[in-house]
Amino acid sequence: MVSINDNYLKLPESYLFSDIKKKVNTFKELHPEAHVISLGIGDVTRPLVPVLIEALHAAVDEMGHTETFRGYGPEQGYRFLQEKIVACDFHARGVDIDADEIFISDGAKSDLGNIGDILSVKNRVAVTDPVYPVYVDTNVMGGRAGVLERDGQHWSHIIYLPCTAGNHFIPELPAERPDIIYLCYPNNPTGTTLSKAELKKWVDYALENDSLILFDAAYEAFIHDENIPHSIYEIENAKKIAIEFRSFSKTAGFTGLRCGYTVVPKELKLYNCSGEKISANKLWNRRQTTKFNGVSYIVQRAAEAIYSPVGRAQIQESIEYYMNNARLLKTALQDRGLQIYGGDNAPYIWVKTPNGLSSWKFFDRLLYECYIVGTPGIGFGPSGEGYFRLTAFGRYEDTIESISRIRNWDL
Ligand code: MLT
Repeated sequence: MVSINDNYLKLPESYLFSDIKKKVNTFKELHPEAHVISLGIGDVTRPLVPVLIEALHAAVDEMGHTETFRGYGPEQGYRFLQEKIVACDFHARGVDIDADEIFISDGAKSDLGNIGDILSVKNRVAVTDPVYPVYVDTNVMGGRAGVLERDGQHWSHIIYLPCTAGNHFIPELPAERPDIIYLCYPNNPTGTTLSKAELKKWVDYALENDSLILFDAAYEAFIHDENIPHSIYEIENAKKIAIEFRSFSKTAGFTGLRCGYTVVPKELKLYNCSGEKISANKLWNRRQTTKFNGVSYIVQRAAEAIYSPVGRAQIQESIEYYMNNARLLKTALQDRGLQIYGGDNAPYIWVKTPNGLSSWKFFDRLLYECYIVGTPGIGFGPSGEGYFRLTAFGRYEDTIESISRIRNWDL
């Protein structure tokens, strides 16, 4: 008899975005004539910028010649990319990070899920609420979440840090000490941000309480406001307590190509069961060299091209295209009298549902009456009830069409 990891049976039957896909497919079967616009999952719609295509072509050609062919690459990523990241994403912002602290991967989602491999099942986890579902679901799989409570929303062993309009979406320090704290800023799903002073509160808390912060900075490229930190390491001593996750998915359209990276500082020490300090960087390196063979050379060459002057200009244009969508959507929804949050330094708009509508009710109405797909806030956690997320990653024409449907909607 082969036993399974029973924790998987505690999970809701499917992942949030799979549930939504099913509902949308049902709608499409019933209404094949409807032009459905997806502003649901945060997937990019613009093609890769020319500099990336050139880099991909060049790398493909290299793979076709004996002298330049590459087999297995370093599991941690090629030095050429690690060094570009260090120079452009960190040194340029006054943050001292070493190339050996950068681990290139196939994306932030994998790393955010896999990081649990090096962390004890006994750790207490805190998440902001609402939250990117991967943090909670992977802790359920890893046995750190406890059981799903009767309300079907809270996990008994997870500490929830509510973020609502009531606290301006700024989480309060927890009453109970967590070992691991997930923070995502700019935030998915609320599109809100933390100032340096607010982020410093969390770094100080983690330093005082020996907690680990898992900082998801997947959306940092969308920050406009100069006072908002792009990296947790902009806060003094954060290297002692934080791992940072970065993604090229939204920044440079890599959702299909797959590439991101994780920063595991050498200063970060975790504890073994005898209370001895262990280097997180060494542990993660051990994990990656055993379970991962690195991202393809071709893809890493494309990622490198993002950092060239031309690459940066082309990427910036795409980011502005999406942020223009965000501005247009935000204004149109505000004109309809809706309360809107986010969308200024992040590609997500967080809508307060009107007239006390539940998130799912709003989802159904928007789908059936406007043929627009969004994401119900409750799907991101209990404090997401009564909210709804729209993404700015749609095509401009679809965003304009959505706006016109929303303007004429009998809300
Ligand atoms: C989202 O819609 O929240 C994201 O696209 C999910 C992801 O990045 O995996």
